[in-house]
Amino acid sequence: MPDKPRILIVDDDPIVAESLAEFLAREGYVTTTAGDGNEAMDLIGSTADTEGDTAGRSQAAPYAVVITDMNMPRSDGIELLKRLRKQSPSVVPIMITGFGKIESAVEAVKLGAADYLTKPVVDDELRIAVNKALNQHTLLHENQTLKAQLSERFGMGNIIGSDYRMQKVYDLVDAVAESKTTVLIGGGSGTGKSMVARAIHANSPRQSAPFITFSCGAIPETLLESELFGHVKGAFTGADHDKPGKCLAADGGTLFIDEINSATPSLQLKLLRVLQEKQFEPVGSTQTTTVDVRFILATNQPLEQLVRGGTFREDLYYRINVVHIQMPNLTDRVGDIPALANHFVEKYCKEAGKTITGIDEQAMNALQSYDWPGNVRELENAIERAVVLSRQPIISLDQLPETIQRFVRGETGHALSLSPDQSFAPSGGVHVPALEGGWHPTPLVDALVEPEKQIILAALEANDWNRQITASQLDINRTTLYKKIKQFGLDQAG
Ligand SMILES: Nc1ncnc2c1ncn2[C@@H]1O[C@H](COP(=O)(O)OP(=O)(O)OP(=O)(O)O)[C@@H](O)[C@H]1O
Ligand SMILES: [Mg+2]
Repeated sequence: MPDKPRILIVDDDPIVAESLAEFLAREGYVTTTAGDGNEAMDLIGSTADTEGDTAGRSQAAPYAVVITDMNMPRSDGIELLKRLRKQSPSVVPIMITGFGKIESAVEAVKLGAADYLTKPVVDDELRIAVNKALNQHTLLHENQTLKAQLSERFGMGNIIGSDYRMQKVYDLVDAVAESKTTVLIGGGSGTGKSMVARAIHANSPRQSAPFITFSCGAIPETLLESELFGHVKGAFTGADHDKPGKCLAADGGTLFIDEINSATPSLQLKLLRVLQEKQFEPVGSTQTTTVDVRFILATNQPLEQLVRGGTFREDLYYRINVVHIQMPNLTDRVGDIPALANHFVEKYCKEAGKTITGIDEQAMNALQSYDWPGNVRELENAIERAVVLSRQPIISLDQLPETIQRFVRGETGHALSLSPDQSFAPSGGVHVPALEGGWHPTPLVDALVEPEKQIILAALEANDWNRQITASQLDINRTTLYKKIKQFGLDQAG
């Protein structure tokens, strides 16, 4: 913790902001002022939430407390609170409201404000509120430090992310590591499933025993059984000596069964028995082998769906779905992208012997807007490439892969497919088909489809198809925006 806590004061009236800043400076704090929520977030972003930044970059000390006015022209106090909660949860806000605005005060407290004060602000009240907020900040900070130490101790130091979905992953890993419980890790490609499987093993009492990976999708059916259970000499043509399989290799340790969703029916049956009884027979042998193995499984498709579709055994599903860890998509934790990107810059600079100090704003915005079908792996590859290509100390947009550049320019598969008679006038009001030629009885949900589509389209166009900005202007999350883009066919290639 810095000696003098830093406080950011946000008010569109510079006189109010300055007078609060002066008072707090006299009280011994380091103060900065901002004119609205956007400016405040920029300032907070530039000091980065170093506590959450596991890459451990050294930057200016982060703000401990933000005192914000409620009504501001561009980005108001409530908006700022929402963004703080999402992006910098350890910065504790205090809200200043106009007299008698009790509803907004309640909302502010719900959004994590330590306190709210009414204008004109009384010195004593401000003193008390700041003390309270600082105590809260210290607790949050200690909590994060403890978590960081814990993850260091438990070998999770390389897993980057402070989004609450990742905190949930860390908590689950902590909770299950000690035991022998079977764990199922779900998530899209490149979301970190294998990494988490390793972390569980590394945190378990089995850490010094082997961690063996068996991938159900990678091996031809005929070799699967031998690969998993081993075989004895003479079991089949070419089996000229005994060969232990992965189950035996993992004895005492962990067997990570990857891509369980692509296991064939016969493999599913075999796995069911090993999982249940920890017993198997090597191919060509009648002798049963018993092992002490901890199973971790990964799937990149929801198994419930496969069970419903009849391609995955229900009994196996129940056997493996004891503890389920779901890895979030990268686009669901956009706030983690800067920390991840910086982490990879550091990693690949070390490898390439280069000195790159960071990523410029335009490139970082692009990274935060792109839709990352390959999740963290794709981000890692993009940064590795940029580090190799970069001749400057800062990575810029033109060093990012062309797909990302095209995406942020709105060129990737998002050419509009409006037919010629579909007139579209962003500034000319919204066209409501259900009202054409008077009212025809129509369910409201159906009547709202076209206007909604046009509003989204107008917003996307106005923002050069930047989804991040569009979602934030529409006050919906990015996933919802993506779903709507898909639903309305706005992403169809022209
Ligand atoms: N939270 C994270 N912090 C740092 N690096 C990460 C994180 N998540 C993933 N990575 C990195 O991204 C790459 C992909 O991760 P990983 O192989 O664990 O994903 P996966 O979900 O197992 O992918 P697949 O579905 O292809 O098996 C790895 O290089 C990993 O180190
Ligand atoms: Mg994997």
